[in-house]
Amino acid sequence: MSEIESLSARALADIAAANDPEALEALRVGLLGKQGSITGQLKRLGALPAEERKAAGEAINRVRDAVGQALAERRSLLEAAALDARLAGEAIDTTLPGRQAHRGGIHPVSRTLERIAEIFGRLGYELADGPEIEDDWHNFEALNFPPHHPARAMHDTFYLPPDAAGVARLLRTHTSGVQVRYMADLVAAGRTPPLRMIAAGKVYRSDSDQTHSPMFHQVEGLLVDEHATFADLKGTLAEFVRAFFGRDFQMRFRPSYFPFVEPGAEVDIAWQQPDGGTRWLEVLGCGMVHPNVLRNCGIDPERYTGFAFGLGVERFAMLRYGVNDLRAFFENDVRFLRQFA
Ligand code: FA5
Repeated sequence: MSEIESLSARALADIAAANDPEALEALRVGLLGKQGSITGQLKRLGALPAEERKAAGEAINRVRDAVGQALAERRSLLEAAALDARLAGEAIDTTLPGRQAHRGGIHPVSRTLERIAEIFGRLGYELADGPEIEDDWHNFEALNFPPHHPARAMHDTFYLPPDAAGVARLLRTHTSGVQVRYMADLVAAGRTPPLRMIAAGKVYRSDSDQTHSPMFHQVEGLLVDEHATFADLKGTLAEFVRAFFGRDFQMRFRPSYFPFVEPGAEVDIAWQQPDGGTRWLEVLGCGMVHPNVLRNCGIDPERYTGFAFGLGVERFAMLRYGVNDLRAFFENDVRFLRQFA
């Protein structure tokens, strides 16, 4: 057997025995690559006597073609086998039931918040914001609650260690602190009333029953102008209630005490009970901004008056959706929540 024939026989046997693409590639480089043995034979043709050159050239070319073809066939065979093995491993059981897609929905409390913000937006109120971890000044002192004032006791909450500067901090008990932030920022920016703002967010208290939750949402409203009166406050709230529920609701103003307003009131709305009776549900606190609060924010109480209100978002959601236990909003029971999706 000539040298080229034995090289061919060995190459074809090696190719047939190669079991993975890497081994096959190594063989290809060893045979047909720049330094490959078949390529070497071709290079040496020039050294042969002219009469032998043609026959030898033809023989080498035949071997090169045969080896090239054997490599390609072996490669596609190995690739098909690898694919088969993968498909067998990833078999899909078409008899299994399909996965159900669940449609999400906006939480009823978020929906209520959005609706309230939209209505006040239409009335020209600017949206403001404040931190949930509040300091004593904004949550209490600036709002006319001196230290040890008994009204603080109604706002029992979660206290945090003082910050690096020794400032007492707590989870805010109401959104009224945003009034102070908003007015002080406005004055610091060189602006003066008239102003209209609302602020929405989470507040925290040590409370829990059918109409109280330790975390709940409030929307704060504030208007300051030269001639704002209690009548403006009543008109604004009546207009809001009408827009929110889409109809008039029986509403009553009950005199009440908050250190940061004078006079102050609480508003109750007639609440239909499942047994057909009605009960009054307190939905918000409100009043005329106390002169001390205006002064604490750098606004002249001799020139300006204002009204403010803080409403319980969950209470409005209860009335709108006919839910008689507010805790249902926070239990995350999808059977309850799905009704609002
Ligand atoms: C306040 O928080 C005052 N900052 C409101 C205010 C603002 C008065 C501006 C005057 C001027 P009050 O504690 O009453 O007030 O709470 C306001 C509303 O939040 C209540 O009417 C009620 O609707 C709701 N609320 C109070 N506590 C809870 C609770 N634990 N869970 C759910 N809603 C609550």
